[in-house]
Amino acid sequence: LPVESRPFASYGSALHIALPQAPRAGQLLTLLIDYEAGEGPGVCWLSPEQTAGKQKPYMYTQGQAVLNRSFFPCFDTPSVKFTYSATVKVPEGFTAVMSATSWEKQKDNTFVFKMSQPIPSYLIALVVGDIVSADVGPRSRVWAEPCLIEAAKKEYDGVIEEFLVVGEKLFGPYVWGRYDILFMPPSFPFGGMENPCLTFVTPCLLAGDRSLVDVIIHEISHSWFGNLVTNASWGEFWLNEGFTMYAQRRISTEVYGLPYTCLEAATGRALLRQHMDATGEDHPLNKLRVVIEPEDFLLFCLFLGVNPDDTYNETPYEKGYCFVSYLAHLVGDQSKFDAFLQAYVNRFKFQSITADDTLGFFLEYFPELKEKGVDSIPGFEFDRWLNTPGWPPYLPDLSPGQQLMRPAEELAELWAADSLNMEAIEAVDIMGWRTYQLVYFLDQVLQKSPLPEGNVKRLSKMYPKISKAQNAELRLRWCQIVLKNNLEAEYSKVKDFLHSQGKQKYTLPLYRAMWGGSEAARALAMETFSATAPQLHVNVQNYVKKILGLAAAE
Ligand code: BES
Ligand code: ZN
Repeated sequence: LPVESRPFASYGSALHIALPQAPRAGQLLTLLIDYEAGEGPGVCWLSPEQTAGKQKPYMYTQGQAVLNRSFFPCFDTPSVKFTYSATVKVPEGFTAVMSATSWEKQKDNTFVFKMSQPIPSYLIALVVGDIVSADVGPRSRVWAEPCLIEAAKKEYDGVIEEFLVVGEKLFGPYVWGRYDILFMPPSFPFGGMENPCLTFVTPCLLAGDRSLVDVIIHEISHSWFGNLVTNASWGEFWLNEGFTMYAQRRISTEVYGLPYTCLEAATGRALLRQHMDATGEDHPLNKLRVVIEPEDFLLFCLFLGVNPDDTYNETPYEKGYCFVSYLAHLVGDQSKFDAFLQAYVNRFKFQSITADDTLGFFLEYFPELKEKGVDSIPGFEFDRWLNTPGWPPYLPDLSPGQQLMRPAEELAELWAADSLNMEAIEAVDIMGWRTYQLVYFLDQVLQKSPLPEGNVKRLSKMYPKISKAQNAELRLRWCQIVLKNNLEAEYSKVKDFLHSQGKQKYTLPLYRAMWGGSEAARALAMETFSATAPQLHVNVQNYVKKILGLAAAE
């Protein structure tokens, strides 16, 4: 058949195939496309040095949002769902895994995968590497390079099943069969990626104390919100992430209680605050509904659409969480809202939907609220939530977390004083604090930074648990504090952290801070980037280039 590649967008071209005659409605059409996938951005080829074991190469794919079009020809939109199967032949000594409901190893190092539930293109994922697995639950195992498998098993042995069970109790059946976790090489750009049956996670989660398990609960929550009920367009990404944040915190509340969950939510709110302060509240990306395809036909023809990957920020997560919390607040009764969420999943499972579908179903499910006109309460109009940028008009009450947050706030106050009250500071014992309490404390310190001369140095000495932490969330905050206070003596920590991993949410804020800092900080940015660029995911590389003014003019 005549095949043609036509321009489509800056991030891909369209494959046009001319059929000998127009198909009839309902006619089944089989197309066999012979193609070769090359360099990324969807397919990442790592050299042995870029792996934990440093012995063998590794390849992985990352589809979300619109990268899988460089992996295989597809309708690369979340509005289309399909099943798939794949036959993957790998060299001796390698294992292939995919986001599939069943897999089987055949002879000749050939793996056959089948996903029997319909999913959108962005959820197809493949890893080939020197990886092994260990069971951590009745339907869960961890996958990792051999040198990490012990740590991986230890981190999550016996804890995953409870999250799945609580998720099923709250949101309905888990339809994906297995829930496995694959620990990726350090350059993996995300904390976690909810590939069905097989979540991909950063090795930074191997903190040794399960303290970063909220990422796993988040990815598990996508099993209902995102993977079963999917945003039809990347312009409404909050339907995936906002509902998932809400579901994550519901599960967390059931398992760890309200105070701890509110503390974690408060650190999320701090991220949203930082994001909006950095961009300005009125930034068009600070709306829940983002314009991806220009409505103007001429602009559309000029391919001036937005790359959905460029819209990634805290708004769909944390403002989305606030909107879902607002809907729960309107209902007033948690168990009624839980029942609504379960009905919502059941109503739209295996479909791709818009916010109008979601909100329409909400009002249909609660006719008394519809009657009351809750969609148009002045200041809280659903339309305003979706289409007006800025700080959420409603914030859920996080005061049940006060018992954990208050001591951290008070300690940050003490450290921000012009003359330090060491007696009061020494009276606070942070040794027993949870990781998220320390994170919350550091966010407060960061907000108050730069601190009076000498305070941060003193703080660093006093709390090696923080300044020498191995935990990635603590390291990120510590590096941010080092930069905001221009503590040159600890620049090496920023460098080491950026050399050790390539997660986008850690990497970009640090480069932004360096670039906005002193001459020495800028030099550190340049030096670190030229040494680490080849290890970073191409998207992350490009975003850093933009920050450092190295990007080619578009
Ligand atoms: N689906 C996202 C990751 C993602 C988003 C990849 C957009 C590509 C484009 C995943 O579920 C996620 O949100 N991960 C977070 C976890 C956190 C919110 C607990 C992350 O990576 O930090
Ligand atoms: Zn997510």
